[in-house]
Amino acid sequence: MTFKNITIERDGLTAVVTINRPDALNALNGETMRELIHAMMEIEEDDDIGAVVLTGAGKAFVAGADIAELSEMGGMEAREASKLGQKAFAAIENLSKPVIAAINGYALGGGLEIAMACDVRIASSKAKMGQPEVTLGLTPGFAGTQRLPRLVGFGRAKELLLVGKPIDAPTALSYGLVNRVVEPDELVDAAKEMAGAIASNGPAAIALVKACVNKGAGAGLETGSAYEAEVFGLCFGIGDAHEGIAAFFEKRDPAWKRKKKD
Ligand code: CAA
Repeated sequence: MTFKNITIERDGLTAVVTINRPDALNALNGETMRELIHAMMEIEEDDDIGAVVLTGAGKAFVAGADIAELSEMGGMEAREASKLGQKAFAAIENLSKPVIAAINGYALGGGLEIAMACDVRIASSKAKMGQPEVTLGLTPGFAGTQRLPRLVGFGRAKELLLVGKPIDAPTALSYGLVNRVVEPDELVDAAKEMAGAIASNGPAAIALVKACVNKGAGAGLETGSAYEAEVFGLCFGIGDAHEGIAAFFEKRDPAWKRKKKD
């Protein structure tokens, strides 16, 4: 599919997805949400992609949902827009390949919400993050009220959601909202380096670890652990565990099976 609002570039086993509406600070309109859903479907099916970096063009990561588009909406339309955004972010969260958010600037409202749907967040030291929706008289609509407390705890999440003021990158790091903070000119390389390290590991194990953590987050310890045991067995059934262990003893790199249909 050809995209208008996003670009996808390959670098080895990594796909760099850039949200590209710099004139609107990469605000997420419906069209961009639909493009993201299609992009995730394409990436899912491509066995030559092992990890994804998500970033924004220009000075912003994503400045939120598109306020111009929101301004035209009635109640039912806004409800559909919320569901569309949630669907797009779930496509990122449920993608079998890890997604690293490279937060290059403002990540506000829907911008922080999309970053939180990613597996790992690396921020530029200049980034600013927050949930300013209440300053516009609305609530977050792309699951910010749900993912933020899971990442930073209820107290900090409620402060960010209720005050509505953005925080800087060092504060986000101290909250555990981002994994690392790097200088702006090192950001994309740092994200690509992490993506490359992930993509060199067993592809099935990577997908299964992501699924275990995500499914476990919504289940109790007992159910999550039972799922993990099934998945652990699967690693041996598909041969990746035998290959990885053999490579360890033979002091060589593992030859992973990348094609699902091999
Ligand atoms: N939607 C649409 N357009 C946006 C936008 C947004 N979220 N954010 C910025 N823009 C546009 C501006 O209107 C402006 O357009 P023009 O050049 O045509 O005037 C352009 O991007 C540049 O923005 P600014 O001139 O405002 O840039 P700045 O550097 O002075 O300020 C900013 C940057 C602090 C991020 C400011 O743009 C801002 O506060 N943006 C809105 C942030 C926000 O409230 N996000 C939450 C949106 S609601 C949401 O996301 C709901 C949800 O969860 C579903």
